Amino acid sequence: MPSLHASGQNDTSPARPVPPWRIRSGARWTLALALSLACVSFSLSAGAEQVQPTPAKTAQAQAQQTQDGQPGLAGAAGTVYTASDFFADLKAGRVTGLTLEGDGSANVNFQDARPQFVVLPPDAQTLSTLRASGVPLKVLGGGSPFDWLSSVLPLVLAVLILAVLWRTMRGAQGGGGAAQFGRSKATVHSEGQVKVSFADVAGADEAKADLVEVVDFLKHPERYHTLGARIPHGILLVGPPGSGKTLLARAVAGEAKVPYFSISGSDFVEMFVGVGAARVRDLFEQAKKQAPCIVFIDEIDAVGRKRGSGMNGGNDEREQTLNQLLVEMDGFQSQHDIIILAATNRPDVLDAALLRPGRFDRQVVVDAPDVRGRETILKIHARKKPLDPGVDLSMVARQTPGMVGADLENLLNEAALLAAKSGHKRITMRDVDEARDRVLMGPERRSMVINDADRRVTAYHEVGHALAAQLLPHADRVSKLTVVPRGRAAGYMMPLREDRVHYVRPVLEDMIAVALAGRAAEQVVFGAVTTGAQNDFQQATNIARRMVTTWGMSERLGKVSLASDESAYLGGGMQPAQYSQQTARVIDEEVSQLIARQYERVLTLVRENLPRLHVIVPELIRRETLMGAEFSVLLAGGELDELIIPEPPLSGTGGLAGA
Ligand SMILES: Nc1ncnc2c1ncn2[C@@H]1O[C@H](COP(=O)(O)OP(=O)(O)OP(=O)(O)O)[C@@H](O)[C@H]1O
Ligand SMILES: [Mg+2]
Repeated sequence: MPSLHASGQNDTSPARPVPPWRIRSGARWTLALALSLACVSFSLSAGAEQVQPTPAKTAQAQAQQTQDGQPGLAGAAGTVYTASDFFADLKAGRVTGLTLEGDGSANVNFQDARPQFVVLPPDAQTLSTLRASGVPLKVLGGGSPFDWLSSVLPLVLAVLILAVLWRTMRGAQGGGGAAQFGRSKATVHSEGQVKVSFADVAGADEAKADLVEVVDFLKHPERYHTLGARIPHGILLVGPPGSGKTLLARAVAGEAKVPYFSISGSDFVEMFVGVGAARVRDLFEQAKKQAPCIVFIDEIDAVGRKRGSGMNGGNDEREQTLNQLLVEMDGFQSQHDIIILAATNRPDVLDAALLRPGRFDRQVVVDAPDVRGRETILKIHARKKPLDPGVDLSMVARQTPGMVGADLENLLNEAALLAAKSGHKRITMRDVDEARDRVLMGPERRSMVINDADRRVTAYHEVGHALAAQLLPHADRVSKLTVVPRGRAAGYMMPLREDRVHYVRPVLEDMIAVALAGRAAEQVVFGAVTTGAQNDFQQATNIARRMVTTWGMSERLGKVSLASDESAYLGGGMQPAQYSQQTARVIDEEVSQLIARQYERVLTLVRENLPRLHVIVPELIRRETLMGAEFSVLLAGGELDELIIPEPPLSGTGGLAGA
């Protein structure tokens, strides 16, 4: 639409009409307008050119007029034909036609003269005058075809700038951010997407039995509802790291075939106060929509710690999150078939309100597996690995007390890596043995230069340990001893530990004695001692101190608890309780006495068996490693088969599997 038409009002000024949006006030508008006007004024500079005739054009018109002045017309010959001349001619009825352009320039046709060029004021009045005269008028499209842009662009720009400002301000206030942050970060696995089943979890039979009930509830909730039974809403899986808590939770989801929301406690925690609570709300809202379902909160201690013990004092973000969690767990009625599973290594730090009936009312302990459990775990993880028929997984299970599922999985993986490295087609028992030692002690360090004297000391030291292990009545027997350095040890004796629930006093005493026997052998044989027994003393002292302070095994101190184990599943060490300096001295005395007594015992043992020791040590140095059975033979005075060519070392330089 030509701009002349567009004006359409009784405004004679050539200036552009004032746009309605200018009337509004306010800082944002002003800024938006300023910016948009700046842009628009640039884009309109071409338009301005059209409204005012260019000097060049005028000059051209002048020249033309000068050349052929036409008698009869209002403009005298030789002068410019002006707008007033035109209006005069129009009035006189001499004009027969007019071609008008958008910028006001026009070609005028006359009855009796040659056409003329004129520039008319581009306003509404001109137009109405022309129309009133009845002269045939032809209006050409004025300006550029994009003229409409000039009217729309400012509006669009203003809206755009406003939108940007709006977003920025919301971001700065943090209010809008919370809406985004407040979304729960849970991963949602839809029905049947979790492929883990109870068959993939071994060794946690009791825990599984508890969870089977939950699965049954999720599958047939009506059965329980009709009997008015209230199934526990919350089940807390507790146990040491790597014992399979997360795996069990996944297995429940896999078995129950319901949607599974998995989130970690730390996913709730954010710098901004209130975000965690918003996430909890969001999580439960989502879960309620998908019920029946399972919500699994891993490492719940990140949000579930006791209130009031926060380091930042009272009402911090974590507490708000916890409060929201407590509220939400109260919130669902029995029609919401949602089971909340949570896992933690630290049930002791959880808030009491979280653990009361109605919330996490059931605790399922997923402890380190026993020997049978370890064997089944090994079997599960060996399913996809080609094992040599010689691999005895039950033996491996016996050699790995205290190891949890994650350790065993890692052990088999190490074995597979070693087998691949040495080009075996199948994993051999040797690979598994090596992998176990590697996991426990670090890689072998065969390249380490050890002189003969050092090696002799190491050999006597290790045989000393082995002697005590084999001869003391309650000690764990020898599994393996070696003088090949590994990790930080120059050599080691590995006992075949038994799984025990209770340790009776003689067992503990023998454990201390075995730990000290290395040093005793050094002293008896060389008359001097070395620095090699540091770790042994730590072990011995540890046991002795616990006997005195936690297990009430000291006559003098009696049956009092003088230390507590804070983090039962994490092995964080003992925290001394409060006691007087007097008691502290007695504890120290009792500990040293206990150790001294055991040291005397092993000194005697080594002296009595010195001839055997002198026979076994050279054999150990020659063979580098003796297995438990071989050691027994030597100790009984027997002889071993002649050493066949030693196999090449498994872990030479570098390697795939680091320490
Ligand atoms: N009982 C088990 N049976 C089979 N595999 C197991 C078992 N326990 C652990 N594993 C293996 O160890 C891995 C780690 O276990 P998981 O993540 O469940 O440990 P977790 O108890 O959750 O440990 P954390 O407390 O450190 O989170 C599993 O992926 C699995 O391969
Ligand atoms: Mg876990």
